[in-house]
Amino acid sequence: MRRTIPIVVLSVLSGLAQAQGSNNVECNNFLSFANDPSGTLATFKQNPEAMAWNWFVCLNRQDARQGSYRVWETFKPDDQVYLLKGAEPLPYSSRENLPSQVTQLAQQQGMDPQGLFQFLGNDTPGSPQNGIQQVDGLALKMNPNPPVPPSDKEQLVRFHLMMGEDTFNYIVTNKIYNRDGLAKLTSNLDFPATAWELKTSWFWIGTNQGFKSQLAKDGYYISQAYYVNSTGQYQVGYAALSGMHVINKLTPDWVWTTFENRNNPKYTVTNDSPPKAMTNTTGPTEAAKPVNSSYQQQYPELAQYELIGVQYDHTLPDPKLLANSQLESAFQGTSSCLACHSTAAYSTQKNNFFSFNLDNSGGILYPTSVLPDKDFIGYQKLDYVWSLKRAQWKR
Ligand code: HEC
Repeated sequence: MRRTIPIVVLSVLSGLAQAQGSNNVECNNFLSFANDPSGTLATFKQNPEAMAWNWFVCLNRQDARQGSYRVWETFKPDDQVYLLKGAEPLPYSSRENLPSQVTQLAQQQGMDPQGLFQFLGNDTPGSPQNGIQQVDGLALKMNPNPPVPPSDKEQLVRFHLMMGEDTFNYIVTNKIYNRDGLAKLTSNLDFPATAWELKTSWFWIGTNQGFKSQLAKDGYYISQAYYVNSTGQYQVGYAALSGMHVINKLTPDWVWTTFENRNNPKYTVTNDSPPKAMTNTTGPTEAAKPVNSSYQQQYPELAQYELIGVQYDHTLPDPKLLANSQLESAFQGTSSCLACHSTAAYSTQKNNFFSFNLDNSGGILYPTSVLPDKDFIGYQKLDYVWSLKRAQWKR
Protein backbone atom coordinates (compact mmCIF):
# COMPACT_ATOMS: atom_id res chain seq x y z
CA MET A 1 0.00 0.00 0.00
CA ARG A 2 2.76 2.41 1.10
CA ARG A 3 4.66 1.96 -2.14
CA THR A 4 1.70 2.79 -4.35
CA ILE A 5 0.96 6.27 -2.90
CA PRO A 6 4.03 8.09 -4.25
CA ILE A 7 3.51 6.45 -7.66
CA VAL A 8 -0.06 7.73 -7.85
CA VAL A 9 1.12 11.21 -6.85
CA LEU A 10 3.87 11.09 -9.45
CA SER A 11 1.50 10.07 -12.20
CA VAL A 12 -0.88 12.90 -11.29
CA LEU A 13 2.03 15.37 -11.34
CA SER A 14 3.28 14.11 -14.68
CA GLY A 15 -0.32 14.34 -15.95
CA LEU A 16 -0.29 18.03 -14.98
CA ALA A 17 3.06 18.56 -16.66
CA GLN A 18 1.73 16.97 -19.85
CA ALA A 19 -1.36 19.14 -19.75
CA GLN A 20 0.94 22.12 -20.25
CA GLY A 21 2.60 20.52 -23.28
CA SER A 22 1.37 21.06 -26.81
CA ASN A 23 -0.75 17.92 -27.01
CA ASN A 24 -2.68 18.04 -23.77
CA VAL A 25 -2.52 14.39 -22.85
CA GLU A 26 -4.82 13.58 -19.93
CA CYS A 27 -4.50 9.99 -18.74
CA ASN A 28 -6.70 10.18 -15.67
CA ASN A 29 -9.27 7.40 -15.95
CA PHE A 30 -8.80 7.31 -19.73
CA LEU A 31 -9.82 3.63 -19.98
CA SER A 32 -13.33 4.66 -18.85
CA PHE A 33 -13.20 7.88 -20.92
CA ALA A 34 -13.09 9.84 -17.64
CA ASN A 35 -16.70 8.64 -17.09
CA ASP A 36 -17.79 10.90 -19.93
CA PRO A 37 -17.97 8.83 -23.16
CA SER A 38 -20.07 11.41 -25.00
CA GLY A 39 -17.68 14.25 -24.12
CA THR A 40 -14.74 12.05 -25.15
CA LEU A 41 -16.50 11.18 -28.40
CA ALA A 42 -16.98 14.88 -29.20
CA THR A 43 -13.24 15.56 -28.62
CA PHE A 44 -12.34 12.41 -30.56
CA LYS A 45 -14.30 13.52 -33.62
CA GLN A 46 -12.43 16.84 -33.77
CA ASN A 47 -9.15 14.96 -34.27
CA PRO A 48 -9.32 11.14 -34.18
CA GLU A 49 -5.58 10.78 -34.86
CA ALA A 50 -4.63 12.99 -31.89
CA MET A 51 -6.96 11.01 -29.63
CA ALA A 52 -5.43 7.75 -30.89
CA TRP A 53 -2.00 9.08 -29.93
CA ASN A 54 -3.30 10.24 -26.52
CA TRP A 55 -4.49 6.72 -25.83
CA PHE A 56 -1.19 5.25 -27.03
CA VAL A 57 0.77 7.59 -24.73
CA CYS A 58 -1.47 6.74 -21.76
CA LEU A 59 -1.28 2.99 -22.44
CA ASN A 60 2.52 3.24 -22.43
CA ARG A 61 2.74 5.14 -19.10
CA GLN A 62 3.77 3.29 -15.95
CA ASP A 63 0.68 1.83 -14.29
CA ALA A 64 -0.28 3.69 -11.09
CA ARG A 65 -0.90 0.50 -9.11
CA GLN A 66 1.79 -1.71 -10.62
CA GLY A 67 4.61 0.78 -11.11
CA SER A 68 6.96 -1.53 -13.03
CA TYR A 69 4.32 -2.33 -15.68
CA ARG A 70 3.08 -0.14 -18.47
CA VAL A 71 -0.69 0.31 -18.38
CA TRP A 72 -1.24 -1.99 -21.38
CA GLU A 73 0.86 -4.69 -19.73
CA THR A 74 -1.77 -4.95 -16.99
CA PHE A 75 -4.40 -5.98 -19.59
CA LYS A 76 -5.47 -9.63 -19.38
CA PRO A 77 -3.75 -11.91 -21.93
CA ASP A 78 -6.43 -13.66 -24.06
CA ASP A 79 -4.70 -17.02 -23.44
CA GLN A 80 -5.71 -16.57 -19.77
CA VAL A 81 -9.34 -15.93 -20.74
CA TYR A 82 -10.00 -18.57 -23.42
CA LEU A 83 -8.49 -21.43 -21.43
CA LEU A 84 -7.50 -24.68 -23.17
CA LYS A 85 -10.24 -26.69 -21.46
CA GLY A 86 -12.86 -23.95 -21.54
CA ALA A 87 -12.77 -23.41 -17.76
CA GLU A 88 -13.78 -20.13 -16.10
CA PRO A 89 -10.78 -17.75 -16.07
CA LEU A 90 -9.19 -16.37 -12.89
CA PRO A 91 -10.33 -12.85 -11.84
CA TYR A 92 -9.14 -9.98 -14.06
CA SER A 93 -6.05 -9.02 -12.04
CA SER A 94 -4.94 -12.55 -11.12
CA ARG A 95 -2.46 -14.34 -13.35
CA GLU A 96 -1.80 -18.03 -13.95
CA ASN A 97 1.63 -19.10 -12.64
CA LEU A 98 4.49 -19.08 -15.12
CA PRO A 99 5.44 -22.62 -16.21
CA SER A 100 8.32 -23.77 -13.97
CA GLN A 101 10.48 -24.39 -17.07
CA VAL A 102 10.20 -20.68 -17.86
CA THR A 103 11.25 -19.47 -14.39
CA GLN A 104 14.16 -21.93 -14.39
CA LEU A 105 15.45 -20.93 -17.81
CA ALA A 106 14.97 -17.24 -16.95
CA GLN A 107 17.10 -17.69 -13.84
CA GLN A 108 19.84 -19.54 -15.75
CA GLN A 109 19.88 -16.80 -18.39
CA GLY A 110 20.22 -13.98 -15.83
CA MET A 111 16.72 -12.64 -16.45
CA ASP A 112 14.20 -11.55 -13.78
CA PRO A 113 12.00 -14.58 -13.00
CA GLN A 114 9.66 -12.35 -10.90
CA GLY A 115 9.20 -9.92 -13.77
CA LEU A 116 6.64 -9.89 -16.56
CA PHE A 117 6.89 -12.38 -19.44
CA GLN A 118 4.83 -12.04 -22.61
CA PHE A 119 3.58 -15.44 -23.76
CA LEU A 120 4.16 -15.43 -27.52
CA GLY A 121 2.40 -18.59 -28.56
CA ASN A 122 2.59 -22.34 -28.86
CA ASP A 123 4.03 -23.62 -32.18
CA THR A 124 3.10 -27.28 -31.71
CA PRO A 125 0.89 -28.34 -34.62
CA GLY A 126 -2.82 -27.69 -34.03
CA SER A 127 -2.34 -25.66 -30.85
CA PRO A 128 -5.23 -23.20 -30.26
CA GLN A 129 -2.61 -20.80 -28.86
CA ASN A 130 -0.77 -20.35 -32.15
CA GLY A 131 1.25 -17.12 -32.15
CA ILE A 132 2.71 -17.01 -35.68
CA GLN A 133 -0.23 -17.49 -38.07
CA GLN A 134 -1.84 -14.27 -39.26
CA VAL A 135 -5.54 -13.97 -40.10
CA ASP A 136 -4.82 -15.22 -43.66
CA GLY A 137 -3.02 -18.29 -42.30
CA LEU A 138 0.43 -17.03 -43.36
CA ALA A 139 3.43 -16.06 -41.24
CA LEU A 140 5.62 -12.93 -41.42
CA LYS A 141 9.31 -13.63 -41.87
CA MET A 142 12.24 -11.82 -40.31
CA ASN A 143 14.86 -10.55 -42.75
CA PRO A 144 17.24 -13.47 -43.50
CA ASN A 145 20.04 -10.87 -43.81
CA PRO A 146 21.53 -8.24 -41.50
CA PRO A 147 20.57 -6.33 -39.41
CA VAL A 148 18.81 -9.53 -38.27
CA PRO A 149 21.52 -11.90 -36.94
CA PRO A 150 21.97 -15.25 -38.72
CA SER A 151 19.91 -18.10 -37.32
CA ASP A 152 19.83 -21.83 -38.00
CA LYS A 153 16.12 -21.68 -38.72
CA GLU A 154 13.64 -19.22 -40.18
CA GLN A 155 12.56 -16.61 -37.64
CA LEU A 156 8.91 -15.51 -37.65
CA VAL A 157 7.13 -12.54 -36.10
CA ARG A 158 4.96 -13.45 -33.09
CA PHE A 159 1.55 -12.17 -32.00
CA HIS A 160 -0.30 -11.69 -28.76
CA LEU A 161 -3.88 -10.69 -27.84
CA MET A 162 -4.91 -8.83 -24.66
CA MET A 163 -8.15 -7.36 -23.29
CA GLY A 164 -9.16 -4.62 -20.86
CA GLU A 165 -11.19 -5.13 -17.69
CA ASP A 166 -14.63 -4.24 -19.09
CA THR A 167 -14.13 -6.53 -22.09
CA PHE A 168 -13.16 -9.31 -19.71
CA ASN A 169 -16.10 -8.69 -17.35
CA TYR A 170 -18.56 -8.82 -20.25
CA ILE A 171 -17.09 -12.12 -21.46
CA VAL A 172 -17.22 -13.65 -17.97
CA THR A 173 -20.73 -12.35 -17.15
CA ASN A 174 -22.05 -13.76 -20.41
CA LYS A 175 -20.05 -16.99 -19.97
CA ILE A 176 -18.64 -16.80 -23.51
CA TYR A 177 -15.06 -17.64 -22.54
CA ASN A 178 -15.80 -21.10 -23.96
CA ARG A 179 -17.52 -22.47 -27.08
CA ASP A 180 -20.33 -23.96 -24.98
CA GLY A 181 -21.28 -20.39 -24.06
CA LEU A 182 -21.20 -19.23 -27.69
CA ALA A 183 -23.29 -22.24 -28.69
CA LYS A 184 -26.02 -21.08 -26.27
CA LEU A 185 -26.24 -17.51 -27.56
CA THR A 186 -29.77 -16.32 -28.29
CA SER A 187 -28.96 -12.73 -29.28
CA ASN A 188 -26.19 -10.55 -30.69
CA LEU A 189 -23.42 -9.47 -28.34
CA ASP A 190 -23.15 -5.84 -27.24
CA PHE A 191 -19.93 -4.93 -25.40
CA PRO A 192 -19.87 -1.77 -23.20
CA ALA A 193 -18.38 1.47 -24.58
CA THR A 194 -15.40 1.05 -22.26
CA ALA A 195 -14.34 -2.29 -23.81
CA TRP A 196 -10.68 -2.21 -24.94
CA GLU A 197 -8.55 -4.77 -26.78
CA LEU A 198 -5.01 -5.03 -28.07
CA LYS A 199 -3.15 -7.14 -30.58
CA THR A 200 0.65 -6.86 -30.48
CA SER A 201 3.47 -8.15 -32.71
CA TRP A 202 6.97 -9.09 -31.57
CA PHE A 203 10.45 -9.83 -32.94
CA TRP A 204 12.06 -12.72 -31.11
CA ILE A 205 15.50 -11.69 -29.77
CA GLY A 206 16.19 -14.64 -27.50
CA THR A 207 19.40 -13.93 -25.59
CA ASN A 208 21.36 -12.21 -28.37
CA GLN A 209 22.69 -9.07 -26.62
CA GLY A 210 23.88 -7.44 -29.84
CA PHE A 211 20.46 -7.77 -31.51
CA LYS A 212 18.80 -6.53 -28.34
CA SER A 213 20.89 -3.33 -28.24
CA GLN A 214 20.42 -2.77 -31.98
CA LEU A 215 16.61 -2.92 -31.55
CA ALA A 216 16.74 -0.75 -28.44
CA LYS A 217 18.69 1.83 -30.48
CA ASP A 218 15.95 1.69 -33.11
CA GLY A 219 13.42 2.60 -30.43
CA TYR A 220 11.74 -0.79 -29.97
CA TYR A 221 10.16 -1.51 -26.60
CA ILE A 222 11.74 -4.70 -25.24
CA SER A 223 10.15 -7.22 -22.88
CA GLN A 224 10.92 -10.59 -21.35
CA ALA A 225 9.00 -13.28 -23.22
CA TYR A 226 8.63 -16.99 -23.93
CA TYR A 227 7.02 -19.35 -26.40
CA VAL A 228 6.68 -23.09 -26.97
CA ASN A 229 8.52 -24.30 -30.08
CA SER A 230 7.20 -26.85 -32.59
CA THR A 231 8.66 -29.75 -30.63
CA GLY A 232 7.10 -28.58 -27.36
CA GLN A 233 10.15 -26.97 -25.76
CA TYR A 234 9.99 -23.67 -23.88
CA GLN A 235 12.07 -20.86 -25.37
CA VAL A 236 12.81 -18.00 -22.99
CA GLY A 237 14.39 -14.66 -23.89
CA TYR A 238 13.65 -11.10 -24.94
CA ALA A 239 11.26 -9.82 -27.60
CA ALA A 240 10.82 -6.40 -29.25
CA LEU A 241 7.42 -4.77 -29.83
CA SER A 242 7.07 -4.10 -33.57
CA GLY A 243 3.35 -3.29 -33.83
CA MET A 244 0.21 -2.69 -31.79
CA HIS A 245 -3.50 -2.59 -32.62
CA VAL A 246 -5.49 -0.58 -30.06
CA ILE A 247 -9.28 -0.69 -30.20
CA ASN A 248 -12.16 0.40 -27.97
CA LYS A 249 -15.91 0.81 -28.32
CA LEU A 250 -16.22 4.59 -28.03
CA THR A 251 -18.36 4.33 -31.21
CA PRO A 252 -20.83 1.53 -32.05
CA ASP A 253 -18.49 0.47 -34.93
CA TRP A 254 -15.56 0.54 -32.45
CA VAL A 255 -12.48 2.73 -32.91
CA TRP A 256 -9.69 1.01 -34.88
CA THR A 257 -6.15 2.35 -34.44
CA THR A 258 -2.82 0.79 -35.24
CA PHE A 259 0.81 1.73 -34.47
CA GLU A 260 4.09 0.32 -35.65
CA ASN A 261 7.82 0.99 -35.40
CA ARG A 262 9.15 3.05 -38.30
CA ASN A 263 12.19 0.78 -38.65
CA ASN A 264 10.12 -2.36 -39.32
CA PRO A 265 11.05 -2.52 -43.06
CA LYS A 266 14.67 -3.19 -42.01
CA TYR A 267 13.65 -6.27 -40.06
CA THR A 268 10.74 -8.01 -41.81
CA VAL A 269 10.31 -9.21 -45.41
CA THR A 270 7.68 -10.24 -47.97
CA ASN A 271 7.21 -13.79 -49.29
CA ASP A 272 8.74 -12.82 -52.69
CA SER A 273 11.88 -14.54 -53.84
CA PRO A 274 14.22 -12.87 -53.30
CA PRO A 275 12.36 -11.30 -50.35
CA LYS A 276 11.71 -7.55 -50.33
CA ALA A 277 11.41 -5.23 -47.34
CA MET A 278 7.90 -5.45 -45.81
CA THR A 279 6.40 -1.97 -45.87
CA ASN A 280 3.02 -0.54 -44.92
CA THR A 281 0.97 0.17 -48.07
CA THR A 282 -2.04 1.70 -46.24
CA GLY A 283 -0.45 4.61 -44.35
CA PRO A 284 0.44 6.62 -42.38
CA THR A 285 -2.64 8.42 -43.72
CA GLU A 286 -2.39 12.14 -44.59
CA ALA A 287 -4.33 12.89 -41.40
CA ALA A 288 -1.92 10.81 -39.29
CA LYS A 289 1.33 12.30 -40.62
CA PRO A 290 1.36 15.72 -38.88
CA VAL A 291 0.01 14.18 -35.67
CA ASN A 292 2.81 11.60 -35.74
CA SER A 293 5.53 14.27 -36.02
CA SER A 294 4.05 16.29 -33.21
CA TYR A 295 3.72 13.41 -30.73
CA GLN A 296 7.02 11.81 -31.75
CA GLN A 297 8.70 15.10 -30.85
CA GLN A 298 6.95 15.33 -27.52
CA TYR A 299 7.51 11.67 -26.48
CA PRO A 300 11.11 10.63 -27.28
CA GLU A 301 10.49 7.20 -25.70
CA LEU A 302 7.77 6.45 -28.29
CA ALA A 303 9.34 8.46 -31.11
CA GLN A 304 10.05 5.48 -33.37
CA TYR A 305 6.40 4.38 -33.31
CA GLU A 306 3.89 5.87 -35.73
CA LEU A 307 0.12 5.81 -36.05
CA ILE A 308 -0.95 4.33 -39.41
CA GLY A 309 -4.56 5.54 -39.29
CA VAL A 310 -7.96 5.41 -37.61
CA GLN A 311 -11.31 3.88 -38.67
CA TYR A 312 -14.43 4.39 -36.54
CA ASP A 313 -17.57 4.82 -38.63
CA HIS A 314 -18.60 2.53 -41.49
CA THR A 315 -20.42 5.40 -43.26
CA LEU A 316 -17.16 7.35 -43.72
CA PRO A 317 -15.34 6.58 -46.98
CA ASP A 318 -11.75 7.00 -45.68
CA PRO A 319 -9.52 5.30 -44.90
CA LYS A 320 -11.04 2.33 -46.73
CA LEU A 321 -7.99 0.16 -46.18
CA LEU A 322 -6.09 0.04 -42.91
CA ALA A 323 -3.43 -2.45 -41.92
CA ASN A 324 -0.30 -2.93 -39.86
CA SER A 325 2.67 -4.25 -41.86
CA GLN A 326 3.35 -6.62 -38.97
CA LEU A 327 -0.17 -7.97 -38.44
CA GLU A 328 -1.92 -7.91 -41.84
CA SER A 329 1.31 -8.18 -43.82
CA ALA A 330 0.47 -10.01 -47.04
CA PHE A 331 -3.21 -8.97 -47.24
CA GLN A 332 -2.86 -5.22 -46.69
CA GLY A 333 -4.54 -4.66 -50.07
CA THR A 334 -7.77 -6.24 -48.79
CA SER A 335 -7.55 -5.19 -45.13
CA SER A 336 -10.19 -3.02 -43.46
CA CYS A 337 -10.18 -3.50 -39.70
CA LEU A 338 -13.75 -2.30 -39.28
CA ALA A 339 -15.23 -4.24 -42.22
CA CYS A 340 -13.53 -7.54 -41.42
CA HIS A 341 -14.30 -7.35 -37.71
CA SER A 342 -17.93 -6.43 -38.42
CA THR A 343 -18.31 -9.97 -39.80
CA ALA A 344 -17.56 -11.52 -36.39
CA ALA A 345 -20.52 -13.88 -36.02
CA TYR A 346 -21.40 -17.38 -34.81
CA SER A 347 -24.04 -19.82 -35.99
CA THR A 348 -25.54 -21.73 -33.07
CA GLN A 349 -27.24 -24.10 -35.53
CA LYS A 350 -24.10 -25.06 -37.43
CA ASN A 351 -21.74 -24.36 -34.52
CA ASN A 352 -19.33 -22.48 -36.75
CA PHE A 353 -18.00 -18.98 -37.22
CA PHE A 354 -18.89 -16.74 -40.17
CA SER A 355 -16.29 -16.94 -42.96
CA PHE A 356 -14.94 -13.52 -43.99
CA ASN A 357 -13.14 -14.81 -47.07
CA LEU A 358 -15.26 -13.57 -49.98
CA ASP A 359 -13.40 -15.50 -52.69
CA ASN A 360 -14.85 -18.98 -53.14
CA SER A 361 -12.18 -19.95 -55.66
CA GLY A 362 -9.48 -20.12 -52.97
CA GLY A 363 -7.92 -16.65 -53.43
CA ILE A 364 -7.77 -14.03 -50.70
CA LEU A 365 -10.48 -11.37 -50.75
CA TYR A 366 -11.71 -9.89 -47.50
CA PRO A 367 -14.58 -7.41 -47.03
CA THR A 368 -13.54 -3.75 -47.27
CA SER A 369 -17.03 -2.45 -46.55
CA VAL A 370 -19.63 -3.67 -44.10
CA LEU A 371 -21.67 -6.63 -45.44
CA PRO A 372 -25.49 -6.41 -45.53
CA ASP A 373 -27.52 -7.81 -42.61
CA LYS A 374 -29.00 -10.51 -44.83
CA ASP A 375 -25.59 -12.20 -45.03
CA PHE A 376 -25.86 -12.92 -41.31
CA ILE A 377 -29.20 -14.72 -41.23
CA GLY A 378 -28.77 -17.71 -38.90
CA TYR A 379 -25.79 -16.09 -37.10
CA GLN A 380 -25.45 -14.23 -33.78
CA LYS A 381 -23.18 -11.23 -34.25
CA LEU A 382 -20.20 -11.08 -31.89
CA ASP A 383 -19.91 -7.26 -31.83
CA TYR A 384 -16.64 -7.12 -33.84
CA VAL A 385 -14.77 -9.34 -31.37
CA TRP A 386 -13.04 -11.95 -33.49
CA SER A 387 -10.86 -13.17 -30.65
CA LEU A 388 -13.91 -15.17 -29.50
CA LYS A 389 -12.74 -17.61 -32.17
CA ARG A 390 -10.22 -18.67 -29.56
CA ALA A 391 -12.95 -19.94 -27.18
CA GLN A 392 -12.54 -23.71 -26.59
CA TRP A 393 -15.12 -26.41 -25.88
CA LYS A 394 -15.35 -27.28 -22.18
CA ARG A 395 -13.58 -30.53 -21.44
C1 HEC B 1 -9.57 -10.04 -42.72
C2 HEC B 1 -10.00 -9.92 -41.39
C3 HEC B 1 -9.31 -8.98 -40.42
C4 HEC B 1 -8.76 -7.75 -40.66
C5 HEC B 1 -8.66 -7.01 -41.97
C6 HEC B 1 -8.30 -7.25 -39.38
N1 HEC B 1 -8.54 -8.16 -38.40
FE1 HEC B 1 -8.20 -7.94 -36.42
N2 HEC B 1 -8.63 -9.90 -36.10
C7 HEC B 1 -9.16 -10.75 -37.04
C8 HEC B 1 -9.29 -12.07 -36.46
C9 HEC B 1 -9.81 -13.31 -37.15
C10 HEC B 1 -8.82 -11.97 -35.13
C11 HEC B 1 -8.64 -13.09 -34.10
C12 HEC B 1 -7.21 -13.56 -34.29
C13 HEC B 1 -6.73 -14.63 -33.40
O1 HEC B 1 -7.46 -15.18 -32.61
O2 HEC B 1 -5.52 -14.88 -33.51
C14 HEC B 1 -8.44 -10.58 -34.94
C15 HEC B 1 -7.98 -10.04 -33.74
C16 HEC B 1 -7.86 -8.69 -33.48
C17 HEC B 1 -7.72 -8.09 -32.18
C18 HEC B 1 -7.77 -8.83 -30.87
C19 HEC B 1 -9.12 -8.67 -30.23
C20 HEC B 1 -10.31 -9.01 -31.08
O3 HEC B 1 -11.15 -8.14 -31.39
O4 HEC B 1 -10.50 -10.10 -31.50
C21 HEC B 1 -7.61 -6.75 -32.38
C22 HEC B 1 -7.45 -5.68 -31.30
C23 HEC B 1 -7.67 -6.51 -33.80
N3 HEC B 1 -7.83 -7.71 -34.45
C24 HEC B 1 -7.57 -5.25 -34.39
C25 HEC B 1 -7.50 -5.06 -35.77
C26 HEC B 1 -7.14 -3.80 -36.40
C27 HEC B 1 -6.84 -2.51 -35.66
C28 HEC B 1 -7.13 -4.03 -37.75
C29 HEC B 1 -6.79 -3.08 -38.86
C30 HEC B 1 -5.56 -2.32 -38.76
C31 HEC B 1 -7.52 -5.43 -37.96
N4 HEC B 1 -7.72 -6.01 -36.74
C32 HEC B 1 -7.69 -6.02 -39.19
C33 HEC B 1 -9.52 -10.42 -38.33
C34 HEC B 1 -9.15 -9.25 -38.99
